[in-house]
Amino acid sequence: MQEIGVSRRADATPHAAALIEGLRDIGYSLETAISDIIDNSITAGARRIQIITETFAEEPHIAVVDDGDGMSEEELIAAMRPGSRNPLATRDEPDLGRFGLGLKSASFSQCRRLTVVSRKGGRTSTAVWDLDDVAERNEWAVQLPDDASAIPEVDKLGESGTLVLWQKLDRLTGGFTHNAAKRAEVINQRIAETERHLRLVFHRFMEDSKPLRILLNGRLLRPLDPFAQKNPATIPDPEEKLTLIRGDVEIQSFTLPHHRQMSKTDWEDIAGPEGHLKSQGFYLYRGRRLILHGTWFGLCRQSELTKLSRVRIDIPNSMDADWKIDVKKSSAQLPPIVRDRLRKVIERIQDGSKRIYRKRGQKLVDHERLPMWHRIQADGQIRYRPNTDHPAFADFAESLPPDLRRGFFNCIALVGASLPVETLHADMAGTAEQIVPDRVDEDTLVQAVQSTLTVLMGARKDIREIMALMKDVDPFRSAWEDTQRIIASTIEAKEQQ
Ligand SMILES: Nc1ncnc2c1ncn2[C@@H]1O[C@H](COP(=O)(O)OP(=O)(O)OP(=O)(O)O)[C@@H](O)[C@H]1O
Ligand SMILES: [Mg+2]
Repeated sequence: MQEIGVSRRADATPHAAALIEGLRDIGYSLETAISDIIDNSITAGARRIQIITETFAEEPHIAVVDDGDGMSEEELIAAMRPGSRNPLATRDEPDLGRFGLGLKSASFSQCRRLTVVSRKGGRTSTAVWDLDDVAERNEWAVQLPDDASAIPEVDKLGESGTLVLWQKLDRLTGGFTHNAAKRAEVINQRIAETERHLRLVFHRFMEDSKPLRILLNGRLLRPLDPFAQKNPATIPDPEEKLTLIRGDVEIQSFTLPHHRQMSKTDWEDIAGPEGHLKSQGFYLYRGRRLILHGTWFGLCRQSELTKLSRVRIDIPNSMDADWKIDVKKSSAQLPPIVRDRLRKVIERIQDGSKRIYRKRGQKLVDHERLPMWHRIQADGQIRYRPNTDHPAFADFAESLPPDLRRGFFNCIALVGASLPVETLHADMAGTAEQIVPDRVDEDTLVQAVQSTLTVLMGARKDIREIMALMKDVDPFRSAWEDTQRIIASTIEAKEQQ
C-alpha cells in the first residue's frame, strides 16, 4: 500500500451507550447465546454446568453456573471488557473462544443486565454491566458491587466457579412486559427449544469418559449424537485426514440406520424439528464443539437419496481465520482446498446411496418376485403400472365371465394411471418414512398369498426360496407375520388334500 502522510488525528472513541447497544444485534438466538456462555465454562475446565431459569418471578432471570477455575477480580474485570482478547492471538487447543466478545455480546443479545460472580482461590468477585446504567453515564465503566450475597443463584457457586446471570430479559418477553404468566410461558417455551441444541452442540463433551454434565433446572441433559454411533446399524466410513498449514481437518462419513432399525423416539430425536431431509449433510466441529450442521455447503442438494448421510468434520481453533468462524460460533465458510476434498466425499456418498436404492428398487420390481407393480423407465420418464399378470389379478380375472374381465382390467389400469404422483412428491420431500403401504384385510391377503403360492410352487421353487421372495414385496412385507401364518395354513391344507 502506498504510504500517505498523516499530520493530524482526532479522537474517535466509541460512544459507550451507542456501541454497547449495537453489540446486542449481531444475530444471536437464545440457544446460540447460552452455548457461547457454556463455551466459556468448558474452556475454564468446568465438569458441571447448571442452567437455572426463574421465569415466573416479577424480575425473571436466567443463570449459568459452572464449577470451572473461576476468575480473580482482575481477571473478571478484564473478562467484562468488550474485546478482552485479540482475535489474532494464538489460543490453547481446548480454548473454545476467539474474539474476547462472547460473554458480553451473547448476554446483551438477551438481556440488559449482566452480572458475573466468580470465585477463585477462596475469593469472590462480582462485576455488572447494566445497559441502562451505561446509557445514563455514557462511559465504559463496569460496576463492582461490594456484596454478592443478595445476587440470585449465587448460593449455587461452589469452591471455585463462575455465575453468569442475565436479568432485565427484555428480548425474551415476547412483548408481554406486564403479563407475568404469559411472559413466563414465552420464556419457558424458548428454553425448551434450547434444550435439544445444547444436547447436540456439546454432545461430545457429554460423552467423555469423565463426562461434562449440563443440568437444565436440575435435570441432567442427555447427549444427542447426530451419528447414532451407539446403534450397531450405523455405518461409519473410515476417517480421512487433510493436513494443512494451520492444522488437520478430519473427515468421517456416517450412514444412519434405516428408520426401521431404530426406535421411533431415537429416529425423531436425531431428526429434530426440521426432519431428516434437512438434517443431512456436514456437521462441523471446532474443538469438538458443534458449530453448524445440516448443510452441504452448497456442494449438492439435500435430497432423499442422501437423507441418511451425515459427515463429521473436525477442525482445530488454529484454523478459525481460514474457516471464517464468526463470533457466535454458528457459521463458517469452506476454505477452497477443503471444498475440493469434500466434493469427492459427496460423490462417493451419492454413488453409494444410488447403489443401495437401485438394489432396493429392483427387489420390488424384480420379475422373480411377482411384483404387483411394474417400473417402466423409458424416454427419460419413469412410470409405475400395475402388473396385470400378477396371479392375484390373473387368477381372479380367470374366474370372471369374459365380458366382466375387460372391465376388471380397465379398473386396474385406472388405478395405475391415477397414481397421485404430485402428493407423493410432496410427501417424499418432507417425511418420506411416513409413507407406508396401505394395510389389506385378511380376506384380501389370503387371496394374494394363495395365488402367489400356487404360481411359485408351480414353478417348483423351494418353500424357503418362496418365503424369501415374498418377504421383500408388499403387501406381504408389511404384513409379514400374517403372511407367514397364511402360508403355513395353506401348505397344511394342500398337504391334507
Ligand atoms: N465461566 C468462565 N470461567 C472462567 N473464565 C471465564 C468464564 N467466562 C469468561 N471467562 C473469561 O472471560 C474472557 C472473555 O470471555 P468472552 O466469552 O467474552 O471471550 P472469549 O471466550 O475469549 O472469546 P469469544 O468472543 O470467542 O467467546 C475469557 O477469555 C475468559 O478468560
Ligand atoms: Mg467466549
